[in-house]
Order: sequence, then C-alpha cells, then structure tokens
Amino acid sequence: MIFILQRPTKPITIAPDYAALCDLVAERIAALVREKPGAVLGLATGSTPLGVYDRLVSAAQDNGLDFSGVTCFNLDEYFPMSADSPHSYHHFMQQNLFRRIRCRRWFVPDGAPRSEAEVAQSCLEYEAAIREVGGIDLQLLGIGRSGHIGFNEPGSPPDSRTRLVSLHQKTREDAAASFGGLSAVPAQAVSMGIGTILEAREILLMASGAGKAEIVRAAWTGESAESLPASWVRSHPNARLYLDTAAAQAFS
Ligand code: F6R
Repeated sequence: MIFILQRPTKPITIAPDYAALCDLVAERIAALVREKPGAVLGLATGSTPLGVYDRLVSAAQDNGLDFSGVTCFNLDEYFPMSADSPHSYHHFMQQNLFRRIRCRRWFVPDGAPRSEAEVAQSCLEYEAAIREVGGIDLQLLGIGRSGHIGFNEPGSPPDSRTRLVSLHQKTREDAAASFGGLSAVPAQAVSMGIGTILEAREILLMASGAGKAEIVRAAWTGESAESLPASWVRSHPNARLYLDTAAAQAFS
C-alpha cells in the first residue's frame, strides 16, 4: 500500500518496497513526457534510480512512450574522468538509459582531464546549455550518506552553480567497491550546483533502504543548512520526497 505522510512540513510518498518506489517515480516522469513531449529532464546516477530507468525503457519499448523530443541533463561526473571510461557517469547513463531509449539530446558534465580554467569554462557552458532549452522541467535526485545531492557535499551554498567540487570521505568510501579500492576513487567531481538544481520546475528526491533513513529524516525535518545540502530541496515549492518503507523508518 502506498501512503502519504503529512506530518513533516512537506508531504512524503512512501512505497512498500523499492519496486513500488520505482513504479511511482517512473510514472511521474512518464506522465510529464506524455504531457510535454519536449520536456527537459535532470537525471541522477547511482543505484537508486536504476529501477526507474528500467521502467522508462519498458515504457518506451513496450508502450510507445516517445522520448524523441526529450532533452536530458545529468547532475555530475567524476574529475578527472574520460567519458569513455567504464567508471564514468557518461558510460553509466549510456548503458542504463540512453542506448536503450532514443531521446533528442543528453548531456553529462564533462570530467575530461584538463586545467581548472578549462573545467570552469565547460561548467559555464553546461549552465548555458540548460538555459538555452528553457531550464529543467523535472529534476530527479538521489541522496548520498553525506547528505549530498548531485555531488554538492556539506558546505555547498544554496546559490552554487555547476563547478568543480571535492568529494566527501563517505562519498568516496561508497564508490570504492566499484573502483576496486578507495585510492582509485577520484577526489573531485564536476557537479551541477544547488542553485542550478533548485531552478528546476519540479524536483523528485528518492531514497531507498535503511542506510538512507537517518539522513533523509534529517534533510526533511531540520532547518535547511549548508551542512546538509539535501535540506535545501525542501525549500522548493514543487519538491516531493519518495521513499520506500525502509528509508522512511526514521520518520515514525
Ligand atoms: C549521482 C548523484 C548522487 C547520488 C547519491 C546516491 O548522480 O547525484 O547524489 O544520487 O550519491 O547514490 P546511490 O543511489 O548509489 O545511493
């Protein structure tokens, strides 16, 4: 059974398990694409949205959901990281979504190794590309154990834009297994800023599993603060938190 928790300042949708959570989030994205075929989506990587991407692929392949007018912008990329590396978020998105659906255009921040000045220039271009298509209609977010959204780690100001950032120790630890060890995880990344994220017209923040329960509760019930970047999402007029029961357990 799906239920809506009204007690915190903003309602939370709670699904019984990860599969139902992904059904709900994918249904919201599909509804937007049906309503606005030229929609601009902001997308996340990581394990949380994988089931959502599977459902969007099924909706496209089995039910004719048309992504050909849709433009997508991803939140972040490791730095330094070549797009064709199997560790890149570019590769992740290609494998899990974009080789399986045909969308108009898709962008991932460029983590190619080069000077900080060149990275700063490509960040400005990323922001400009988002503006050129009229801004993001719907931004999908996960949350890190550090409380990050995108790779906006604690200390990120609410008006931050796409930029080079340093990764939190917890974030690097969480990525260590997929890189074959902590020392192989990049210390930096290029991330959309919190200000960039908050300009999206709608935000879906999703979390699954008991490991996210405490950080999600803190983000959705305390004061918004730079020490907990996901807490800024609550200040957005059209943001919704989607959890499975394990991730929601700290609310009860
Ligand atoms: C990745 C991103 C991150 C992840 C977060 C949760 O593009 O934006 O903020 O959403 O690290 O990762 P998972 O889903 O692997 O727990």
